[in-house]
Parts: sequence; C-alpha cells; structure tokens
Amino acid sequence: MMEKLEVAGGDKIQIYETLIPQIKSLTEGESDLCANMANIAAALKETFGFFWVGFYLVKADDSQYGKTLVLGPFQGPVACTRISFGKGVCGTAWKDARSLVVPDVDLFPGHIACSSLSRSEIVIPVVKDGEVVAVLDIDSKDLSAFDKTDDLYLTKLIKFIY
Ligand code: SME
Repeated sequence: MMEKLEVAGGDKIQIYETLIPQIKSLTEGESDLCANMANIAAALKETFGFFWVGFYLVKADDSQYGKTLVLGPFQGPVACTRISFGKGVCGTAWKDARSLVVPDVDLFPGHIACSSLSRSEIVIPVVKDGEVVAVLDIDSKDLSAFDKTDDLYLTKLIKFIY
C-alpha cells in the first residue's frame, strides 16, 4: 500500500483530480467500511487541512424514528456522538438525501455546534441501494470554505467506500 499521498499543487480541482485515483487505490481490495472511511477521512484532512473530517453512520436505536446518526471514523477534535434524523446539518442531509453546503453555520437553523471554531461545512450523504447509510461531514474554520466543486468531487470520492 502507498505510504504517502502525492498531491499536486494548484487549484482545488487539480488537487481533487490527483487525490481521487489515490483514494481509489487505497480503498480497492478493502471491503471493510470502517477501514475505508478512516483512510478517506485521513486523506482529506492531510490534503486540505480541514478542521474536522468524518463520517456519521445510520444505526438502529430506540428513538422515535428507530435510527440515528452515530459518530464513525474521523480526524479532528472530539465531536458529538449522536445526531437525530432531521437535526443539524448532518441530520438534514440524511433526511433530504442530498448534499448541503453551508457557508456560515451560524445562519443554519438548528446547526449542532460540536466546536465553536467551525464556521462553514459540507455534508454529503453516502447512499447504498437507494438508502442513506452514512454522511460525510467536513468542517472548516473559514467561512464559505466549500462550494459545488467540493460537492462534486466528494460525492465521487465516497463511492470508493464500498
Ligand atoms: N455540525 C454538525 C454536527 C457534527 S460536527 O460538526 C462534527 C451538524 O450540525 O450536523
């Protein structure tokens, strides 16, 4: 397995373009979800220096909805462990089964602040057999750190989890 990521300098598109084949080779041949999520979180954190990168997995629980998001592999400061369906940015992305780009978390109603240092975020649902099974959550200390380019490439990238 590769020891180190080799990422081109340049703009975000060039960085994602060189990162994606490396994520592909890191994850292909590995069927374990946790292992692949852990390496993807590490690769994104190392490449972009985001404040927090991680996954929340949909798991059964005894809540009214019967399922909740539970903290999975991540890189960054400690974080909230459970997020209910429809709550916060992650719970909303899960409920709506779509990516959410939040330029200013303070303007997102119901945002769950695991850290007051987080200013903007992107959440991408991980869909398997038509169902959201997890979300990828990335937080930045900068406002407006994410856009459609991140959404596009991160959506491609998380397909390598399975
Ligand atoms: N901000 C998220 C909660 C998770 S942490 O940022 C790691 C939200 O509102 O869903």
